[in-house]
Amino acid sequence: MRINDSILILYASQTGTAEDLAKDTEEQLVELGYIVRCLDCYDTNPTFLREHKTCILIASTWADGDPPDDAETFYNDLENNKNLDLSHLRFAVFGLGDSAYEQFNECGKNFDRMLKERGGSRMLPRVDCDVDMDAPFDQWVKDLTKCLAIDIVDNC
Ligand SMILES: Cc1cc2nc3c(=O)[nH]c(=O)nc-3n(C[C@H](O)[C@H](O)[C@H](O)COP(=O)(O)O)c2cc1C
Repeated sequence: MRINDSILILYASQTGTAEDLAKDTEEQLVELGYIVRCLDCYDTNPTFLREHKTCILIASTWADGDPPDDAETFYNDLENNKNLDLSHLRFAVFGLGDSAYEQFNECGKNFDRMLKERGGSRMLPRVDCDVDMDAPFDQWVKDLTKCLAIDIVDNC
């Protein structure tokens, strides 16, 4: 299978915050000259990850640690498809949540775990972002662009 060099940004969002951040990330990466594809998890499936070298995933958490409704199928398919080989993939997960909830950022944590379990390499440690997201998001995009520029994988 041909591996696509474009950067795949996926978002899992209930009320649009993760979607906004994904589109902001897309804009910033496009400005830097990258070819980027930004998709709602609803519009794709985990097998599509086989076609990409880089995946950036921005996900919020809902109702007791669940994924947003529109991302549920993607999330469950990724959990259930134990044979999906993502050993070619480098990824970074930015989780959005609220630490007032017991299952803080559970969806982001699980996406990060599942991508790693399927063989992917982390470009950056997962961010578990709380309600004040501006500064952590700006820092994460800075860290991300640095990793992309020098093509590093920390494999943390
Ligand atoms: C009804 C409700 C349930 C939520 N449940 C959780 C949760 O279990 N864990 C968590 O970390 N955040 C939880 N949150 C916080 C959201 O994840 C947070 O507001 C996020 O920024 C929403 O992003 P979105 O608009 O992309 O969905 C919840 C928020 C609401 C309104």
